Amino acid sequence: RVLAGRGGDLAGRHVVVSAGGTREAIDPVRFIGNRSSGLQGYALARTAVARGAEVTLVSANVALPDPAGAKVVRVESATQLREAVLAAAEHADAVVMAAAVADFRPVRQSGTKIKKSAAEPDPIHLTKNPDILAELGETRRAGSGTHPRVIVGFAAETDDVLANGRAKLERKGCDLLVVNQVGENLAFGTPDNAAVVLTAEGDSVEIPRGPKEDLADVVWNLVVRRLP
Ligand code: CTP
Ligand code: CA
Repeated sequence: RVLAGRGGDLAGRHVVVSAGGTREAIDPVRFIGNRSSGLQGYALARTAVARGAEVTLVSANVALPDPAGAKVVRVESATQLREAVLAAAEHADAVVMAAAVADFRPVRQSGTKIKKSAAEPDPIHLTKNPDILAELGETRRAGSGTHPRVIVGFAAETDDVLANGRAKLERKGCDLLVVNQVGENLAFGTPDNAAVVLTAEGDSVEIPRGPKEDLADVVWNLVVRRLP
């Protein structure tokens, strides 16, 4: 496999990977969530460990075994994921945001379980969550604070996949954006993935359909090239 030939090209490096999907509480028993399984983020964490990195895996609501050798930080909401990622990113060479972060959360959370009654239910009002990837990029652009050298985002797009991806990479100020093609049984909950990695320089690297480990190794290859 690819790993064997890589030696420890991430030895001495600290990388942060976020994985899974956030849950935004409505009340103590209900949440707004998404379909992310965490498989791609866990594959990234495993392959980084195999390549010698110190790995912090910020994991949101996944049902997968901890990758051996990684430090796992469990979170539930986007707010918690933000705090864990930003804290770990201070000492990181690279951050890979593979997690599906909820764009919105309920403005208010009921402290008690919402009960049904004869009346129609109240609407759930939503507010925007902070954009963690954009914040990492912005901190770096401003040259303020300590920030990782390499910032990697993920995006699942449907229609104009490449144009949307290119705009997103620029908007968020990341170095690499892994753009998944959603549909045809790819991406969510499946062992395989296919993607195009866009770079800040305007290049694109196509990754054919294959195991999420293979995609992870291509991502780390591209990250390694950007590290001094
Ligand atoms: N992301 C993030 N914080 C958010 C939302 C997204 O850090 N609040 C990260 C994701 O982890 C991913 C990247 O941004 O690496 C792209 O996420 P995506 O949902 O595709 O981008 P959005 O900017 O939310 O745009 P869209 O309207 O297409 O959902
Ligand atoms: Ca989004």
